[in-house]
Amino acid sequence: MFTFRPIGYVHSPYKDTSSIPRGLGAKHEAEGTLEILREFEPGLADIEGFSHLYVIWAFDRAEGYDLLAHPPTDEKRPHGVFSTRSPRRPNPIALTVVELLRRDGNSLHVRGVDMLDGTPILDIKPYLSSIPEEKLRRGWLAEVEARKG
Ligand SMILES: C[S@@+](CC[C@H](N)C(=O)[O-])C[C@H]1O[C@@H](n2cnc3c(N)ncnc32)[C@H](O)[C@@H]1O
Repeated sequence: MFTFRPIGYVHSPYKDTSSIPRGLGAKHEAEGTLEILREFEPGLADIEGFSHLYVIWAFDRAEGYDLLAHPPTDEKRPHGVFSTRSPRRPNPIALTVVELLRRDGNSLHVRGVDMLDGTPILDIKPYLSSIPEEKLRRGWLAEVEARKG
C-alpha cells in the first residue's frame, strides 16, 4: 500500500461536475490556480520555464470503481476503465495537462483545468512530449470520431 499526501489544492471555477465540459470535442480552457502548500514551495523553483505541466491529482469525490466504463464520448458501448479517463477507477488518480500562465509565489495560474474546486494535488511535473503525432493511435476514440464526424 502507498500513502500520498496532497502537495496543494486546485482553485477552479467548477463547483459541481455538471459544469465541467465533457464528451467529444469538449474544450478545457478554464483558468484556475494550483495553490501549493508553503512547505513544498521550494520545489517550484525553475517551473516558470515550462509552458505546460502535468498535474497528477486525486478524484477525491469519486466513489468505487467499474472495470467497464461508459464514457460520455461513446454511448454505443462500454470500454475497459484503463482505456478511459473515468473518475471511477481502482486507484482514483487523475492526470491533466495544463498551460502555465504565471507563477505567483506558491500559486501557479494555469489554463485547462478539469477538476472540481478544492481538488487535492498529488504531484506536478513538466510536460515534455516526444512522441511524433504519426506514431500516436487513438484507439476506440478514433472510431467514435470517425462515426460522429
Ligand atoms: C473524465 S475525468 C478526466 C480527468 C483527468 N484529465 C484525467 O484524464 O485523468 C474529468 C471529470 O472528473 C470529474 N471530477 C473532477 N474533479 C473531481 C474530483 N475532485 N473528484 C471526483 N471527480 C472529479 C468531473 O466529472 C470531470 O468532468
